[in-house]
Amino acid sequence: MSDPGAQIVAGLASLGQRHREEFKQASTEQELRAAKARLLGKKGELTGMLKQMGALPPDLRRELGERANGLKREVEAHFEARLAELALALRQADLVAPPVDLTLPGRLPVARGHRHPLSQVCDEILEIFGELGFQTAWGPEVEFESNNFTKLAFPPDHPATDMQDSFWVDVRGAGPDLRALLRTHTSNVQAREMSHRQPPMAIVSGGRVYRRDDDVTHSPMFHQVEGFLVDERVSFAQLKGVLTEFARRLYGTETPVRFRPSYFPFVEPGAELDVGCVFCRLDDGSRESCRVCKGTGWLEILGCGMIHPRVFDACGIDSEAFTGFAFGLGVERVAMLRYGIPDIRLLFENDPRFLGQF
Ligand code: PHE
Repeated sequence: MSDPGAQIVAGLASLGQRHREEFKQASTEQELRAAKARLLGKKGELTGMLKQMGALPPDLRRELGERANGLKREVEAHFEARLAELALALRQADLVAPPVDLTLPGRLPVARGHRHPLSQVCDEILEIFGELGFQTAWGPEVEFESNNFTKLAFPPDHPATDMQDSFWVDVRGAGPDLRALLRTHTSNVQAREMSHRQPPMAIVSGGRVYRRDDDVTHSPMFHQVEGFLVDERVSFAQLKGVLTEFARRLYGTETPVRFRPSYFPFVEPGAELDVGCVFCRLDDGSRESCRVCKGTGWLEILGCGMIHPRVFDACGIDSEAFTGFAFGLGVERVAMLRYGIPDIRLLFENDPRFLGQF
């Protein structure tokens, strides 16, 4: 068949005969579209024939061109009809299929989440003090300078009030007496509670605090738990009793504790509480090489002391009639010691491979 006209005539006839069968054989929309592309697409059969028409004499070209276009319309109509047929069949199959039961349990077990290790430790600490008779209270993270420092008897030039330690917040239009910052400790709750209630009171509070610090054991944001108790005739012996009991409930009844003198402007006397290192034992000779307590056998866990009369005066509590004690501890440190976490930043990166271990 060297005559191009005859070749095209034969091609059109063949296409006219075959296309319905090809469409019928397609049983999905995808197959149907592929079949259409084979026949009418850019590289399809009909396009190939149209390309050859350039070589025909004009009369024949016109005649065959019209036939080709007619055939194209016919093929397209059949394609649409088959497409509708397939869609209907699909819908029909859906309607007679057994219904989907949305109440069935999933095949894969759903992974259960849990509280962050810091929340677990913080709640546990608050719970112990709850059992010892302390009520919980709350304080804001953006705080007035007065509640964070001034009422707590920080002298104006105290190093902790320095710009190096605090994140100050610009409050537009606020005068010097309304300066605000991200609280540097939870002791602001002392100032707040003592300013609006009268003794007796025994209160704990946990939450986020902020300081300009950033290394493997310090994060600019961390968590503290604060506690304080005010009444008539509260003594240092009671402070020791409550905090010793707390340490035993947290670390075990055998845990040795010791109080060391220390300084905080809002307590007098002030102390730090150490517990016996939970990582090494005196009797097995491992103490000297212990990296956690650096061979001292003791771990510092909190700051505490008898509330300074100046704090009572600043908050409107009669410092002649009442005494009290206060303490503050870092939650990250408790969690890091308990779980052997070497870098504080792991606690804040939210990596599920880390958090999944608690
Ligand atoms: N607020 C102190 C700190 O952040 C801890 C503390 C609280 C000390 C209460 C004594 C009494 O370091």
